[in-house]
Amino acid sequence: MKILVTGGLGFIGSHTVVELQEQGFEVVIVDDCSNSSEEVLKGIASITRKAPIFEKMDLRDKLKVQDFFKRHAEIEGVIHFAASKAVGESVTNPLLYYENNIATLVYLLQELSKKPRSSFIFSSSCTVYGQADKMPITEDAPVKPAESPYGNTKQIGEEIISDTCKVTPGLNAIALRYFNPMGAHPSAEIGELPIGIPQNLVPFITQTAMGIREQLSVFGDDYPTADGTCIRDYIHVVDLAKAHVVALKRLLDAKNSNNYEFYNVGTGKGSSVLEVIKSFERVSGLKLNYKIVDRRPGDIVSAYADTTKANKVLGWKAQFTLDQAMKSAWDWERKIRG
Ligand code: WQD
Repeated sequence: MKILVTGGLGFIGSHTVVELQEQGFEVVIVDDCSNSSEEVLKGIASITRKAPIFEKMDLRDKLKVQDFFKRHAEIEGVIHFAASKAVGESVTNPLLYYENNIATLVYLLQELSKKPRSSFIFSSSCTVYGQADKMPITEDAPVKPAESPYGNTKQIGEEIISDTCKVTPGLNAIALRYFNPMGAHPSAEIGELPIGIPQNLVPFITQTAMGIREQLSVFGDDYPTADGTCIRDYIHVVDLAKAHVVALKRLLDAKNSNNYEFYNVGTGKGSSVLEVIKSFERVSGLKLNYKIVDRRPGDIVSAYADTTKANKVLGWKAQFTLDQAMKSAWDWERKIRG
C-alpha cells in the first residue's frame, strides 16, 4: 500500500518512513529540502534495505500538488510533516508560516477530498494547550489562545481538518499532538540535524558536550517545580514514529469515515531541565558545562501528557526511557561529528 510522507526527510518524518517501510508500506517522500538533506535517504535505506521513492517538491505550488496526485493515484494515506517549526521566526515572519503550514495543508486536503477514500495524519503539538491548568494533560483540556503564529498554524490546521472531515465522505484524519521529541534511531543512521544554533534542549546539550557550543544556559531555576526548572515530556522519536504507523493503520482499517480524532503523544512522565542534564551525564559519563540564566520569555512551567487515550484506543505506548532516548541522541551526535 502506497503512503505519501510529506517532510519525510526531516527529523520525525525520516524515523516514521523507517517504521512504515519496516511494516511493509510503500513510501513516497515529498520534501523541498529547505530544512533537510537528501543524504537522509541513504540512512533510511541502510536501516530498512529499501530506498523510498523521493520527489523534491514545494507543496506551496498547488499545480504541482495536483499533478503529483494524478501521477500517484494509488496513494491511500498521507502523513503530513512538511511545515516550518521555528517559533521565533514565526513571530517575525507570520505570513511565511501561514503559507508554509496552512496553504500546503489546504492543497493536500483538496486533493484527498477528490478520492473515494483516504486517510490523513497531521503533525500537531502540545503547544495547542498552552499552560494547561491540570497535569498530566488530557485531550479534553481546552485549547488556549496560541502564543505564536507557529502555534496558531497547529490550531488552525486542526480546525481545517476537522471541518473538512465533517463534509467529506471517505476522508478520515488523526492529529497527533506531540510533546517534546528527542533522540535518534538506535542504529545512528538517522537523527536530528538542527540548522545553526539549536533552540531545543537536547541538541543543545549534545552539541555543548561535543564542544560545538561553549555552555548550556538553563533558562530559569525559580519556577514552581521541585528543582525550580521547567518540566516537559521528552519522547523518543522512534516511539513517536511508531505512533504514526498505528494511527494510520487505525484509519486504513476503519469501517466508517468522516472521522477526525486527536491524540496526545508523549511518555506520560515529566522531566525537569536539570533531570535531563543528569540523564545526559549518566549515559555519557561526562560533566556538562551549564549555568543558570534568566527565564526564557514564553516558556511555560510544565507540560506532560496523559496518554490514556492513545494507550487505549490506538494500543500504543511509549517504550523507551529518557536515558535510552538520551543515549541515542548522544550516539548520533558523536557519529555526525566523528
Ligand atoms: C525544553 C526545556 C526550556 C534550551 C518545543 C518546541 C515547540 C513545541 C514544543 C512543537 C524548556 C529549556 C531549552 C536551552 C534550556 N513543539 N531549555 N536551555 O520549549 O518545550 O518547545 O516543544 O510544536 O515548538 O520549540 O522545548 O527544547 O525549547 O525546551 O534551559 O538552551 O528546556 O526553557 O524548559 P519547548 P525546548
